[in-house]
Amino acid sequence: MKRILVTGSVRQIGSEPTMTLREQYGNDNVIVGVNRTQPQGELKDSGPFEKVNCTDIKEVDGVVKKYKVDTIIHLAAILSAVAEAKPNLAWDVNINGLYNVLEVAREHKCAVFTPSSIGAFGPTTPLDDTPQDTIQRPNTMYGVTKVSGELLCDYYYKRFQVDTRGVRYPGIISNVTLPGGGTTDYAVEIFYEAIKNKKYTCYIKAGTFLDMMYMPDAIKAAIDLMEADPGKLEHRNAFNVSAMSFDPEIIAAEIKKHIPEFTMDYDVDPVRQAIAETWPNNMDDSAAREEWGWKPAYELPAMTKDMIEKLTVKLSK
Ligand SMILES: NC(=O)c1ccc[n+]([C@@H]2O[C@H](COP(=O)([O-])OP(=O)(O)OC[C@H]3O[C@@H](n4cnc5c(N)ncnc54)[C@H](O)[C@@H]3O)[C@@H](O)[C@H]2O)c1
Repeated sequence: MKRILVTGSVRQIGSEPTMTLREQYGNDNVIVGVNRTQPQGELKDSGPFEKVNCTDIKEVDGVVKKYKVDTIIHLAAILSAVAEAKPNLAWDVNINGLYNVLEVAREHKCAVFTPSSIGAFGPTTPLDDTPQDTIQRPNTMYGVTKVSGELLCDYYYKRFQVDTRGVRYPGIISNVTLPGGGTTDYAVEIFYEAIKNKKYTCYIKAGTFLDMMYMPDAIKAAIDLMEADPGKLEHRNAFNVSAMSFDPEIIAAEIKKHIPEFTMDYDVDPVRQAIAETWPNNMDDSAAREEWGWKPAYELPAMTKDMIEKLTVKLSK
């Protein structure tokens, strides 16, 4: 990776990876792709940013040409809960947007990183130790677009030799940006509410286990995979990656170790609960470990401690 365009770089998984990429590859070599939300602060001031609506192929092509981009980190997407409310938009951004990115990559010989998701699985997938290669029959628009995206990326590699790579991210937990309308957002919100109000009303039922990952590991996964020896990659576009699996009770108990007065009750959201029940309890990520050395640094206790420390400072300002 020498000149990198990051699409969708302003929101949850975008802003922190973009800053890490700028530190590692040089500020001017990482172009922030902006749709509607404008970048702020360090993200705006530290390097170039350009309007890149991924559903407009001319905008993608123009920026790739202008900066001689060799790698596109394609993070622009509509997440699960929003996709259920706006399926047309989700199809347009998640499918047509990815198609445009792959076409531009083919034309200009760029490598492409696209995250898939635990949402690419469905009710008939084995939910415990979910294998790398298994049944994928998601019943959400988000899931449909994510499976299609995995297949489209495989196709562009096999048919046109575009260097496509990707991981199936679990729920991502960050102390910098708020989540963008996904099913696992509760695992971020709970920290804000625990610190601010000492209580949280959870929209996911007790006993619902989901894979999660702390943002530093999500960034590491993307960079390690993009820097991996391509000769060793058998699964290019949809590596299961996980770091921890918990239900609301387990994360609440871990938070209580730091904030003893914290309490949680439930007001279950049927839409997000139904989605969560079709997603893995925990994924088997041995293919990522074997093919490119995936190893997360944060499990639940270390993530919780770091989240509470960082957010306490942030929220006291
Ligand atoms: N956040 C998670 O927990 C999670 C989990 C698994 C996979 N993922 C995947 O990671 C990627 C990034 O997710 P995120 O959490 O940062 O999402 P987000 O909703 O926080 O951010 C998505 C970004 O895409 C941008 N966008 C929307 N439409 C666009 C368009 N037409 N053109 C360009 N940009 C557009 C938005 O402005 C936003 O900046 C997505 O592919 C998502 O499916 C996220």
